Amino acid sequence: MVPEAPFRAFRIHADAKPFRAGIEQISAAPLQAGELLIKTAYSSVNFKDALAGTGTGKILRVPVLTGGIDAAGQVVASRDPGFKEGDAVLVTGSGLSETRDGGYADYLRVPAAVTVALPAGLSLREAMILGTAGFTAALALWQMEANGQTPDQGPIVVTGASGGVGMLAIDLLTTAGYEAHAITGKPEQFDALIALGAQQCISRKDLYWGQRPLETSRWAGAIECVGGEMLSGLTRVIHPYGNIACCGMAGGAELHTTVMPFIVRGLSVLGIASANTAYCVRRSLWERLATRWKPRHLETICRNEKSLDALPLVFDTMLSGGSFGRTLIRL
Ligand SMILES: NC(=O)c1ccc[n+]([C@@H]2O[C@H](COP(=O)([O-])OP(=O)(O)OC[C@H]3O[C@@H](n4cnc5c(N)ncnc54)[C@H](OP(=O)(O)O)[C@@H]3O)[C@@H](O)[C@H]2O)c1
Repeated sequence: MVPEAPFRAFRIHADAKPFRAGIEQISAAPLQAGELLIKTAYSSVNFKDALAGTGTGKILRVPVLTGGIDAAGQVVASRDPGFKEGDAVLVTGSGLSETRDGGYADYLRVPAAVTVALPAGLSLREAMILGTAGFTAALALWQMEANGQTPDQGPIVVTGASGGVGMLAIDLLTTAGYEAHAITGKPEQFDALIALGAQQCISRKDLYWGQRPLETSRWAGAIECVGGEMLSGLTRVIHPYGNIACCGMAGGAELHTTVMPFIVRGLSVLGIASANTAYCVRRSLWERLATRWKPRHLETICRNEKSLDALPLVFDTMLSGGSFGRTLIRL
């Protein structure tokens, strides 16, 4: 049933001067094209949501839309034979909060081609504790394994470890049989990271990468969320034929290195771009996240469950590097 009454949405006006974003009442009329109308149950907060919702990053490619790159809920109307009313579904990335309305609203209209049926083994809530962050961690490990990474090569280090991608990556790696190490700017969270499965925790402040193009190698691979100096340093300390999954830029977008890690150690730096992952990969990774790669500590990693009103505060915490785990948004 298409909603008759107006409903709440966190709208972003990227073209307004000054920039403006907040909760508004909208009706079904301006909802965009798409075969499926979804009643949203949960969304989540990712770093990209904070960039979009504060205007700190140029994420929107249209002037005005609803924020939220993730959504999970139930189909209330379908014009696609693959989905019917009542189906539980999820959408991550795929243009949400970039070119089309996202998950920070009671209702969302989306194309069937980007909508994933909720796999058995995941609840709507669990799907959004994972959200783009969990999907990104899974995509990273999937690409690393496709490029030869195996648990017996040695530990995988996770950077930005206390953030959403970071905590889910530690849990997922451990579940998948890897030894996970954590690098964090929050030594006070060592115990929490160890409880997720991290076998070593290193404070960001204590890191010293040395001066040479290649230093003594320490890890077989990395799931890297920070960028800048962190990524540059890691290229010099990965075991031969290891992989760095380059996911983020929470600490900087630059990369300074030499060709030595590539031509001497056979290092691969793998680009991880979750937003527009092919549908067949998307579906199979969500299946995996619901079964043999399902992180074991989802409820622990979900540190906050909030309503739309809390978004501005969550965004500010995130952009100042203060994230700890995942924030779920309940609609
Ligand atoms: N490529 C993709 O498809 C994709 C998908 C999702 C996310 N990402 C990116 O991955 C990164 C993490 O995303 P998220 O959603 O997990 O964000 P998040 O929950 O806010 O986590 C970010 C973490 O990065 C670390 N950090 C923050 N500021 C930093 C700084 N100035 N220097 C060094 N480390 C800093 C902090 O962890 P510690 O204090 O523990 O170090 C923080 O908790 C972001 O850059 C995001 O854009 C990319």
